[in-house]
Amino acid sequence: MDEEQNASAPYKRRVRYPGKNPRHFKDKYKEHNHEKYPDDIKKIIKSGKTPVSTHRPICVTEILDILKPIAGEAGLDATLGFGGHARELLERVKPDGCLYALDLDPIEIIRTEKRLRNLGYTEQQLVVKHSNYAGIHKVVSEMGDTFDFILADLGVSSMQLDNPERGFSFKQEGPLDLRLNPNRGHSAKELIKRLSEKELEDIFFENSDEPHAKKIAAIVYKRRGHLHKTTDLSIAIATAFNKKSYKDCTDNEKRSIRRVFQALRITVNDEFSALEHFLRNLPFCLKSKGRVVILSFHSGEDRRVMRFFKQGLQDGFYKDISHEAIRSSSEEQFSNPRSKSALLRWAIKK
Ligand SMILES: C[S@@+](CC[C@H](N)C(=O)[O-])C[C@H]1O[C@@H](n2cnc3c(N)ncnc32)[C@H](O)[C@@H]1O
Repeated sequence: MDEEQNASAPYKRRVRYPGKNPRHFKDKYKEHNHEKYPDDIKKIIKSGKTPVSTHRPICVTEILDILKPIAGEAGLDATLGFGGHARELLERVKPDGCLYALDLDPIEIIRTEKRLRNLGYTEQQLVVKHSNYAGIHKVVSEMGDTFDFILADLGVSSMQLDNPERGFSFKQEGPLDLRLNPNRGHSAKELIKRLSEKELEDIFFENSDEPHAKKIAAIVYKRRGHLHKTTDLSIAIATAFNKKSYKDCTDNEKRSIRRVFQALRITVNDEFSALEHFLRNLPFCLKSKGRVVILSFHSGEDRRVMRFFKQGLQDGFYKDISHEAIRSSSEEQFSNPRSKSALLRWAIKK
């Protein structure tokens, strides 16, 4: 995967992929070394795809219009990911401002920090912490001050989704894992093994509003001892629709597979509880007139953001909030289909 590693090994040459366009994650060496192949990367992005090992930041214009970061301010990016949003924010707060950036993923956070440091951001300008945003109030106590603006772009990044080894991909075979931090907690495979049929059904329905939760839970429960790979699970769900695999499913059935993976991911990473802690602590982490933007990707997240923002307005913490979720523009949806499900909400502290 790492072309530079291969180049430094004298007798090992990179295995060339057959054909013009590599299909497998590991073979996409240009995308893994995206900084070296800017023209190829531009072409991939122009075709509406996201190069693997990268992530395209969503709703950047809308976020900057609301957060209005200016030189000298202190901001927090609660979900650093690939650092696309962070870079835009850093450019606006420099030279004297700073950005704190958190992420739960111990693998990608190292790569992203290295990339941002290579762009010249100093330790004073950018503070990167491997941390759960549920503990946002601890960051504030550590910093000794509150933030001018906060951004949280929820869920998973394209780098996590596209890498089969991380176990998020229902299309490509990988371990049935789904952990954002693979060093902590239990994998999806372990979770499935210890849940009852009814608990599985509740997770599929409550986390992802899956309409076929009952019949999918029945088959997942029946096969629970044999689900080792992501593809074992997607095949089991396809069987609930009398299909052999993901590829044979209709678009609606494919959506069910996506929702079941999402529902399990939410439970594996305790995502709703982390989000609720974050939303509860949020008003106490902002300066007066401080701005916050949250990008959600499904109704379970958006409902929570809306509820906490409305409550914060009623309780007098916020002076204004977005009353409707803002969607990505049609141009962005066309150029980056992954932005289609984004729901943006904002709030301004009193
Ligand atoms: C959609 S991506 C963020 C992409 C980023 N805005 C960018 O421009 O590249 C979401 C990120 O949030 C991280 N994440 C998810 N839950 C988290 C949590 N509870 N605490 C901290 N980071 C979390 C994921 O690991 C992932 O890297």
